[in-house]
Amino acid sequence: MRKLNIPLVDLKAQFKYLKNEINIVIQSVINDSSFILGKYVEEFEQNFAKFCNSKYCVAVGNGTDALTIALKCCGIGKNDEVIVPANTFIATSEAVTLCGAKPIFVDVDPNFYLINLDDASRKITKRTKAIIVVHLYGQPANMQKIVNFAKAHNLKIIQDCAQSHGAKFNNQHLVEFGDVCCYSFFPGKNLGAFGDAGAIVTNDEELATKCKMFRNHGRLDKYDHLFEGTNSRMDGLQGAILNVKLKYLEEWNDKRRNNAYLYNKLFEEVSEVVTPTEQQESFHVYHLYVIRSSRRKELTNFLSECGITTGIHYPIALPFLKAYSYMGHKKEDFPVAFKLQNEILSLPMYPELKENQIKYIVGTIKKFYKKRSFYL
Ligand SMILES: Cc1ncc(COP(=O)(O)O)c(C=O)c1O
Repeated sequence: MRKLNIPLVDLKAQFKYLKNEINIVIQSVINDSSFILGKYVEEFEQNFAKFCNSKYCVAVGNGTDALTIALKCCGIGKNDEVIVPANTFIATSEAVTLCGAKPIFVDVDPNFYLINLDDASRKITKRTKAIIVVHLYGQPANMQKIVNFAKAHNLKIIQDCAQSHGAKFNNQHLVEFGDVCCYSFFPGKNLGAFGDAGAIVTNDEELATKCKMFRNHGRLDKYDHLFEGTNSRMDGLQGAILNVKLKYLEEWNDKRRNNAYLYNKLFEEVSEVVTPTEQQESFHVYHLYVIRSSRRKELTNFLSECGITTGIHYPIALPFLKAYSYMGHKKEDFPVAFKLQNEILSLPMYPELKENQIKYIVGTIKKFYKKRSFYL
């Protein structure tokens, strides 16, 4: 096999196709001096709300702010507890702490790596006010079960959709299941800006109005403030760029899904690798394609020598991070998350990934295991 260099994500490949369209809108924003919020952001808010089949979208500075503002505007604060899955990015739990509340970690399930509601039930207290559901890697959690669980315990449902733009459950858009969906448009996401950006999507008019004010210093008018909020306004440039890219999102998600199925098919012959499992009701958008290998370190080194970049999402589950050592969690408290953190491996995944590149990646992994068994 001829050596190929394959990145984990290739943003340059995407820009090549969009260069002209994007350069035009960047120039328009500059010509209009529409730098913060303004018409390009409003247009994006309308388009993204429509894409999510939602009534309202509030564009903010990033995904972490989207979560924090949504939680605060849902009334979460001091002395409250919020359920958070153990395997996610720290922003999910950070948002809870930033509100003055306490994240309560729960384990994930061994098949889909999503929140485990049995563990969540064990951790409900009088203080539990909300559950944050993370649609990790692009796969929606079982929202029907989450809705029933939240109803039973009188919890708000905050959905962390940072990795799941366009994902559906039971053919329904995610916003139809919970109070609020929070998106990140970090450049490498399925819908990525050219810098930091995020959005809050909801069907609740009162919540949308509150979030809209909160992102802009609790403003009623330029210097008339109803409450203290923050500065988390989307830039005009990001709004304009996201507007261009949004038109391609469905097509890109389909390409990601096809790439995942090709990986799955080629991996059928590699028994040492565990491939991702889709829930029947899920429309998975494969932000990441995550395999499991018990020889991850050696495999990663071999792939790197062969020009293939990989990632780990995430190498340390949240309860085991130094940031949360004060909670005193042990590996036995989160057995699935602990096992996963040592085995999961993200392979290159992006819409522009070519068939020959996927064949090269799987071929290289086959070679790794053949070589290993030869020396055993
Ligand atoms: C699951 C998850 N939640 C939240 C975030 C935070 O988004 P941002 O980086 O835009 O603040 C990210 C992004 O990395 C994420 O992957």
